[in-house]
Amino acid sequence: MSHETILILDLGSQYTQLIARRIREAGVFSRIARFDLTLEQVEEIAPKGIVLSGGPASVYAEHAPKIDPGILELGVPVLGICYGMQLMVEQLGGKVKPAESREFGRAHAQVDPTNPLFADVPMETTVWMSHGDRVEEVEGTFKSLARTDHAPFAAIAHETKPLFGVQFHPEVVHSLHGEQVVRNFVRHICACSGDWKMASFIDEAVATIRAQVGDTGQVVCGLSGGIDSAVVAAIVDKAIGERLTCIFVDNAVLREGEVDEVEAAFAPRFGERLRVVRAAEQFLHKLAGVTDPEEKRKKIGHVFIDVFKQAAEGIDDARFLAQGTLYPDVIESVAAFGGPTATIKSHHNVGGLPEELGFELVEPLRQLFKDEVRELARELDLPQVLIERQPFPGPGLAIRILGEVTPERLAVLRRADSIVRHEFTEAGLNARIWQAFAVLLPVRSVGVMGDQRTYEDTCVVRAVESTDGMTADWARVDYELLGKISNRIINEVRGINRVCYDISSKPPATIEWE
Ligand code: XMP
Repeated sequence: MSHETILILDLGSQYTQLIARRIREAGVFSRIARFDLTLEQVEEIAPKGIVLSGGPASVYAEHAPKIDPGILELGVPVLGICYGMQLMVEQLGGKVKPAESREFGRAHAQVDPTNPLFADVPMETTVWMSHGDRVEEVEGTFKSLARTDHAPFAAIAHETKPLFGVQFHPEVVHSLHGEQVVRNFVRHICACSGDWKMASFIDEAVATIRAQVGDTGQVVCGLSGGIDSAVVAAIVDKAIGERLTCIFVDNAVLREGEVDEVEAAFAPRFGERLRVVRAAEQFLHKLAGVTDPEEKRKKIGHVFIDVFKQAAEGIDDARFLAQGTLYPDVIESVAAFGGPTATIKSHHNVGGLPEELGFELVEPLRQLFKDEVRELARELDLPQVLIERQPFPGPGLAIRILGEVTPERLAVLRRADSIVRHEFTEAGLNARIWQAFAVLLPVRSVGVMGDQRTYEDTCVVRAVESTDGMTADWARVDYELLGKISNRIINEVRGINRVCYDISSKPPATIEWE
């Protein structure tokens, strides 16, 4: 793709993705890469500017990540953020030292508004700091553009080269004019035109798919009912039309009405090219007796692959598989220097079909974030119900039924879940809530209904607010709403006599219960 690109070299900051978003919000395409790209690799990308992210290390630590020094000599503007700035200074011979008093959180800064980096930023502003080291000796190489009480070099510019650094984090919202600083860097300093937008993304994606698939290739796309695969299908359809076939698998663990909804949304668009495979029995058979969450994920994944493979075999000459892989799934994060992070849950996504199927992948969303995909869906005129759909895990209701997944328990959870979602929608909360759903526990308790003693299962209502699913806060919703949901579930769903509300945030809890 030929658009103007800002390259972000990830030195391990937890905010690297935020930097990418801020740049895209400024109308410029951005991509994240590992810090150890070679000079040649950087030159191949031909970025209009480079951002060095923050990172947890100290530049003097033994295994501190370094960048190829040639990158600072390219003549391409560079903005170092926090560790990125310290690294740049250190690599150019300046001095970085442990600060006497470390600065965390908001700080008051005085900036030099005559420098283009601070155009339209007031002389006094609030910035967000998070550092233990600070830049000390740079005279003759860099000049100071901003200072705080504890950092005389809160922002710097090189005397002769287009190199800039900020000790604070402009990408986080607590830096009041941070967004403007990012915009200034990409628009004024890197001279990007700022015309990158979703509509142009569609045209580029269509051209790329046509080039990849050629004049005769057939593409298969697995629909999951979620927005990502729907957007992929719509883009591939735009690119090659008739040569796309969509496969939707009823895996027994979908939500109430989901199979029909997906059929209603896609059959008019794809007609014969939509294949709905009703394989619930096969999945239930494999899930019988399984209680371990990871085992459930694995079994569902395996059956899905078999079913999908069989369905795809009927399509002549299907060589390509279109998938809704998103950017957060593909970034080679270096957040955890010193070793791989522990697998908390294997998010294999049902769409994660293995290589041995022999398909060549078509992944038009590889460079997008979730909310950008929503924007695309609107551009593509997809049905509103799809656009507003909450994220739903590949292993579906199976990981919301603690203990064994049986058709009876699925029916109970499906009803309860449908009530939860309906009431949240009625209360107008969908825009605020990331996910709201029901979980069925294998815990029975005593109740009384009419004159009868009951001894039935417990249902948990889970509702969280989140921007990306990585962290989440339990949703503070109205007691009246919770009361209504509880009443409806206990009255309408046979088998549940107690409803609880989950008030744990992530971390330390996760969003799903398994
Ligand atoms: P957790 O439970 O890890 O969930 O806080 C974060 C987000 O990921 C979804 N999730 C999954 N998605 N396969 C998926 O495709 C999975 O196995 C899976 N587990 C969790 C979850 O719904 C939430 O949005």
